[in-house]
Amino acid sequence: MAKVCGNMEKQYVHAILAAVSDKLQLDYFHLFLVHSHIRISHTVTDLTNIAEDDKLGYDESRVAGIWEGMEEAMSKGLTRAIGISNFTITKTESLLKTAKIVPAVNQVECHPYFQQKKLREYCDTKEHGSQSLVKWEQQCKVALKVGYRHLDCAHIYQNEAEIGEALQKCFEEGVCKRENLFVTSKLWAGDMEEQYVLPAIQLTLKNLQLDYLDLYLIHSPFAFRHNLDMSNLQEEEKLGYDESRIAGIWKTESLLKNCQDCTSCQPGECHPYFQQKKLREYCDSKGILIEAYAPLGSPARRGVEATDPVVMDDPTIKEIASKKGATPAQICISFLLHRGFVVIPKSVTPHRIQDNFEATKVSLSAG
Ligand SMILES: NC(=O)c1ccc[n+]([C@@H]2O[C@H](COP(=O)([O-])OP(=O)(O)OC[C@H]3O[C@@H](n4cnc5c(N)ncnc54)[C@H](OP(=O)(O)O)[C@@H]3O)[C@@H](O)[C@H]2O)c1
Repeated sequence: MAKVCGNMEKQYVHAILAAVSDKLQLDYFHLFLVHSHIRISHTVTDLTNIAEDDKLGYDESRVAGIWEGMEEAMSKGLTRAIGISNFTITKTESLLKTAKIVPAVNQVECHPYFQQKKLREYCDTKEHGSQSLVKWEQQCKVALKVGYRHLDCAHIYQNEAEIGEALQKCFEEGVCKRENLFVTSKLWAGDMEEQYVLPAIQLTLKNLQLDYLDLYLIHSPFAFRHNLDMSNLQEEEKLGYDESRIAGIWKTESLLKNCQDCTSCQPGECHPYFQQKKLREYCDSKGILIEAYAPLGSPARRGVEATDPVVMDDPTIKEIASKKGATPAQICISFLLHRGFVVIPKSVTPHRIQDNFEATKVSLSAG
């Protein structure tokens, strides 16, 4: 972990990160923090002796700029997570006005005489999405220990570095071997130009700490402008679908020698309410396997409405589950497995990870 100091400006973030990692002889940091929201002059070199004139106070736009620099550093793989230090609730709120990535951590003074209860309550309410120091690493280890061998990753999930840590630890501990895993990742819509494909897969491999992927997918046929964050997408940055762009990317993908087969798989949302019958027929005719994503109906998906139907609450699914002594989630997964789909449920909850894996033992019959 390292921190940028108060004499920092957005344009120096990348260089300072690279310089510190060079000095420490590291390829990346696990966590990089903005040390404080207080600003001092960039010319200050002796931080133990700061003149009054060099204390420049707090500047919201400058902190926003630095955070943008931190986000860029994270997207380039220089640090696996970014956070803040000594930020009050007000200053954190102000940072969040423009932040695309919510800080993973706020490092503050905290001891029995100063328990930071209000800050803790406030920070607990701020979801930091997929940016996490240990969550994905732990959940991935749980899944590998349970027996999962297929990992569905993607650059845009922003957790490949944590998955990489989990994989290394599991290899070291003898939980699994690389050759017994099937690891997928995906070319992000912001890298949808021929020249970005190889750098994108190389970054993914670096983050996953792997020499090769088993499968590399084009995440979506649509493109966004390069180096964009999905969470703050502007209309003009959506480049849409372009047949020749896809053709160029495909040409490059076929050069990826270690990828087992670039044309074998097509992921699609697929669950009992959306069975993809036509896509399935078409893909079957082309010899393309369908991977069923959102097999549980993705109950926590972005934009879900309280009135939307919940697949796992379906009375028929519940009834079958009760008859089989299974859970609704197991019925959804088993239903798709019986239809020959590759099924990729997601959970961060250890007992659900186990429960979903056990779906392979649930037998269903037609009618
Ligand atoms: N290619 C693509 O464009 C694309 C798009 C979307 C998804 N995907 C892939 O598909 C995977 C799954 O998709 P998804 O996460 O959208 O949908 P999902 O697997 O249908 O649903 C995941 C949600 O269900 C909950 N859940 C998991 N097991 C459960 C259980 N046994 N009982 C009750 N709730 C349970 C999870 O909660 P907890 O995590 O809190 O346990 C999570 O909120 C993703 O992780 C990703 O790898 C690919």
